[in-house]
Amino acid sequence: MISRETLARELTKARDRTLRLVDFDDAELGRQYNPLMSPLVWDLAHIGWQEELWLLRDNNPGRPGLLEPQVERCYDAFLNSRASRVDLPLLSPAEARSYCSTVRSKALDSLDALRFDGSETQSAFTFGLVISHENQHDETMLQALNLRVGPPLLDRGKSLPSGRSGVSGTSVLVPGGEIVLGVDESTEPHSLDNERPAHVVDVPAFRIGRVPVTNAEWRQFVDDGGYDQPRWWSERGWAHRQEAGLCAPRFWNTGDLAGTRTRFGHVEDIPADEPVQHITYFEAEAYAAWAGARLPTEVEWEKACAWDPATGTRRKYPWGASEPTEHLANLGGDALRPAPVGAYPAGASAYGAEQMLGDVWEWTTSPLRPWPGFTPMIYEQYSQPFFDGDYKVLRGGSWAVAPSILRPSFRNWDHPIRRQIFSGVRLAWDV
Ligand SMILES: [Fe+2]
Repeated sequence: MISRETLARELTKARDRTLRLVDFDDAELGRQYNPLMSPLVWDLAHIGWQEELWLLRDNNPGRPGLLEPQVERCYDAFLNSRASRVDLPLLSPAEARSYCSTVRSKALDSLDALRFDGSETQSAFTFGLVISHENQHDETMLQALNLRVGPPLLDRGKSLPSGRSGVSGTSVLVPGGEIVLGVDESTEPHSLDNERPAHVVDVPAFRIGRVPVTNAEWRQFVDDGGYDQPRWWSERGWAHRQEAGLCAPRFWNTGDLAGTRTRFGHVEDIPADEPVQHITYFEAEAYAAWAGARLPTEVEWEKACAWDPATGTRRKYPWGASEPTEHLANLGGDALRPAPVGAYPAGASAYGAEQMLGDVWEWTTSPLRPWPGFTPMIYEQYSQPFFDGDYKVLRGGSWAVAPSILRPSFRNWDHPIRRQIFSGVRLAWDV
């Protein structure tokens, strides 16, 4: 299932992508665009450091590495908050590039030495983890670049398929019944610890939006005074709305520029039929209340995405077993924005839900908790430290996620006040 060639190809793809995101001058790479984000040069060297630790040092920081101990400490995400990283004695961009390239060449040597005879499972998993980690940081770097103020560094992104009318605001029925939630190593060898193990759960019937909520729909919420009426908001949500002065999604402009948004430095009209992006959990929750709906749980979301009631099994992707293509989902990061709703009818799930993968991360009501029987993986700090925190799960990946690391079981999480992420919302209803 996993081959040496696939791992090598995905490592290279991820690295090409990373290098395109740091193809700027040194001063640019050392800047902190926002206290929520690291300077790009930190992400670059951190990608190399994790790769070295996981693949070349058996995840043992006690084993000597390529960097001096006081330097490598800078790249431990748990020792250094994002806000503080700009003040660390970081490697220069040239040093960081050279370090990453040295690590990569040793990693490829060790991939070459790996025997694919059935004994490689753990090592192949770790290579997959490295690929996932680098791609996840590429998405984080895109969040940083989107927060950058000034003339654009990136273009407007590749063209996308057109949407179709008649899907926005509609929903599909997901009848009640048991499903297999989560996955196992046998079916998804690259799945991360929090996606495992597969287990049976009963999910009562519900309806879910055929597509995510659009900018046009969100505009009606704004125009109807949705941001000014506490009745739509939870108590915590309203307190945050007041404190942060929220009045529209992040990056929607006001005043003379009303009706436009700023995206990677480009000011443009807000596209009516594109899924709304850059909203907090609290805003999503208020919108849903205003719309006479609610947010889905992550279990409902996964059922609507992956379960096939005709066969009583999970699908690998919403549309079936075939790998994602540009006709099925908006993934990979080159679009730099979500696709209009209705753009991927061929990507529909068994229940008819569209754009479940790609476009925008979708907030769910679920706090991040382990599935029963959870066991931490080699990177023990990936999920476990976050299980009891103030996090809500987001599902489905955004346009910025690499197709090779996304699965219907993939779980992302963030604080309910965050919205620099590529977050949107899909509604659900009791039946
Ligand atoms: Fe990381």
